[in-house]
Amino acid sequence: MSGIQLESILTEARVFPVHEDFARQANLNSEQYAALCRRAEEDPSGFWGDLARQELAWDKPFTQVLDDSRAPFYRWFADGELNVAANCLDRHLSSPTRNKAALIWEGEDGEVRTFTYGQLHREVSRFANVLKKLGITTGDRVAIYMPMVPEAAVAMLACARLGAIHSVVFGGFSAEALKDRIEDTQAKLLITADGGFRAGRVVHLKQHADQALMRDGHSVDKVVVLRRTGQEVDMLDGRDLWWHELMQDAEPQCPAVSVNAEHPLFVLYTSGSTGKPKGIVHSSGGYLLWSALTMRWVFDIKPEDVYWCTADIGWVTGHTYALYGPLAVGATVLLFEGVPTYPDAGRFWAMIERHGVSVFYTAPTAVRALMKLGEEWPGKYDLSSLRLLGTVGEPINPEAWMWYYRVIGKERCPVVDTWWQTETGGHLIAPLPGVTPLKPGSCTRPLPGIFPDIVDEEGDPVQGTEAGGYLVVKRPWPGMLRTVWGNDARYLETYWAKFQNRYYVAGDSAHRDADGYYWIMGRIDDVLNVSGHRLGTMEIESALVSHPAVAEAAVVGRPHEIKGEAITAFVILRQSHVQDDRDRLTEALRQHVSEAIGPIAKPDDIRFTDNLPKTRSGKIMRRLLRAIARGEEITQDTSTLENEETVRQLGR
Ligand code: WTA
Repeated sequence: MSGIQLESILTEARVFPVHEDFARQANLNSEQYAALCRRAEEDPSGFWGDLARQELAWDKPFTQVLDDSRAPFYRWFADGELNVAANCLDRHLSSPTRNKAALIWEGEDGEVRTFTYGQLHREVSRFANVLKKLGITTGDRVAIYMPMVPEAAVAMLACARLGAIHSVVFGGFSAEALKDRIEDTQAKLLITADGGFRAGRVVHLKQHADQALMRDGHSVDKVVVLRRTGQEVDMLDGRDLWWHELMQDAEPQCPAVSVNAEHPLFVLYTSGSTGKPKGIVHSSGGYLLWSALTMRWVFDIKPEDVYWCTADIGWVTGHTYALYGPLAVGATVLLFEGVPTYPDAGRFWAMIERHGVSVFYTAPTAVRALMKLGEEWPGKYDLSSLRLLGTVGEPINPEAWMWYYRVIGKERCPVVDTWWQTETGGHLIAPLPGVTPLKPGSCTRPLPGIFPDIVDEEGDPVQGTEAGGYLVVKRPWPGMLRTVWGNDARYLETYWAKFQNRYYVAGDSAHRDADGYYWIMGRIDDVLNVSGHRLGTMEIESALVSHPAVAEAAVVGRPHEIKGEAITAFVILRQSHVQDDRDRLTEALRQHVSEAIGPIAKPDDIRFTDNLPKTRSGKIMRRLLRAIARGEEITQDTSTLENEETVRQLGR
C-alpha cells in the first residue's frame, strides 16, 4: 500500500452558502449544531445517552452507554432492550402517523401500492407469524433474495420483530454468490420470489436459489417463494412454500420480541481487498439510533415529507435509508422496483412529480447517466416539490454535482453529499443542510459525535491541506459495525490492525482543506467502486481463474465517465487455450464472471497477455497495470520489475 499516489488532483473553489429559507425551517441550526458538537466532545456518554433515550423506545432502559472494556469490540447501551420493528411501526400507532403512508411502492410497470403504518404493521405481524410457524426464533439467520417489492421490506421487518437476523442478498447477485452467503451465515430459511423485473427483462431469482441450494449439506430447511412475475418455477415438495398460501391464515397480531441492544439486527456482505466478501454485523440499538438521527440531521426529515431513496434494499443504503431510518422517524418512504432509464430517461423525474417527492437520495452514477441524456428529460416534469437532494456511493464530480444542483434542484435545494460505508451503518461525513455551506465534490464536515482524521503511513495526522492520507475515525459511534460475522480476527485485521487498534480504518484516502472540509479521493485498497458498488479485485480475479481457459488474472479499475470506475482484466491463458478465438473467449469470460458474482462484476475489457508485471518477490504490480489500463505513458520506476519486457508487451 505504501507508495500509493495520495496527492489530490481536484481543485474546486466554488462555495454555496446555506439558503436562509432553508435554515429557518431546518431541524438543526448553527447554534444547535455547535452545542451538539461541544457536548459530543466533552461529555460523550451524556450526549449519546440522551439521544438514545429521546430517539428510541426502550423496553428496558440501559444503564451504561458505552462499554469499551473489550475495545475495539465496542458495545453500546448493552444492558438495554428494545425491538427494532416495534420502533419502526408499533410506536407510531398511537399517533396520527398510524394512518399516514409508510411505504409507497411503484413497480417497474407503473403499478402503485401504498401501505399506511397501520397496514404495514399488520403485514409485518402476519409474516412474523409465518416465520414463527416455520420454526424461526430469535438469533436464527434468514436469507432474503428478493426483487425490490414491498414484501422484501415486510420480510426484513418480520425478522426484526422476532429478533431473527436477516441477511439480504442483492437480487442482482448470482447463484454462486447467494450460496456463499447462505453458507457463511448458516441461514435456516431463504425468502425469495419466482423472479423480478429489471429494465423490461425478467430475473430468474427462484432458479438461482435452486442452484444455490443444489448441493447437499446446506443449512436451509425451507424456502418461501413470493409470486411476482408469474413465471413457471419448480417447487420442491416439503421445502418450497408459496408466500401467499402461508399468509392466507396468518394472524395480524404478533408480539415483538425484546432483544438486547447489541443483538445483531442483520448481516450484510461487502467486498474487501482479500478473500470472500465479509459479513458485516450491525446491532439493534446503536444502528437504529444512528439511522434515525442521520435521517433528521442530514435529510432534515419532516412529517410531511415524501422521501425517496433510490437504492435497492440489497445494499446498505437500502437498509438504512430506504427502510430502518425513514420508518424509525415515521416518514413516508417511496420504494421503486425499477431502474432510472426504463421505460425512458424521464422515469425518476416523472416519479418525483407523480408522488410529490420532497427529499431525493441517489447515486452519482445515476446523476451522471441522466445528465448525459440531456436537460430536456427533467425539463418535462414539475420538480417543484423537491427541497433537498442527496448523493452517496462514490465521490461526485463537481460537474455532476452542479448539474444536480442546477437542473434538478433549481438552485433551491441543498445537495448533501454523504460519505459513509456498509461498516459505518449510516452517514459519518455529510453537510447539515441548514448549517453547512456546500462545495461541489466535498462531503464537507463530520456529523456531531463523529471524529475522523487523516493520517499518514505511521498513523500521524497529516499536515497541510493538499496532502492526502488514510481516512480514519478516532472514536467509536453507535452505528458502527460490531464485527465480521463468525470472524472476529478478520474484523481486527481489516479495520484496526494497521494502526494498532488506535483508529477505525475506513479503507478510503482523503484530504482536508483549510475550512476543515473532507474530500474523499477513493479506495486505498484493492476495492473497485463500479456504479457505486464495491467489488474486490481479488473476487473478480478468482472468478476468472476458475474458468478452465485461464491460468492467471489481474484486475484493475480505470476511470469511466458514468460508472465511476470500469473493470479491466489482464488474463494469461492456459497453454491449451492460447489458440482459442479471442472474441468468443472474451464473451465467455465476461459471462463466467457474471455467473460467479453477478452482472455488475463483468469486466468491461479483457486483455490477453503472456506475462503480468511482477516484482522480483512475485507481487503483481497493480500500479503499473492501472496506468496501462488508463492508457497512460509508463513513467513509473520499473526497475524492481522481474521482466521489463512485459510492460512493453502490455502497453501495445
Ligand atoms: C465510497 C455505501 C465519496 C467510499 C454507503 C466508501 C463515497 C465506499 C461516498 C463504501 C461519498 C461512499 N463520497 N466516496 N459520498 N459514499 N463512498 O460499503 O469509497 O457500498 O468506502 O457503502 O463507497 O461503499 P458501501
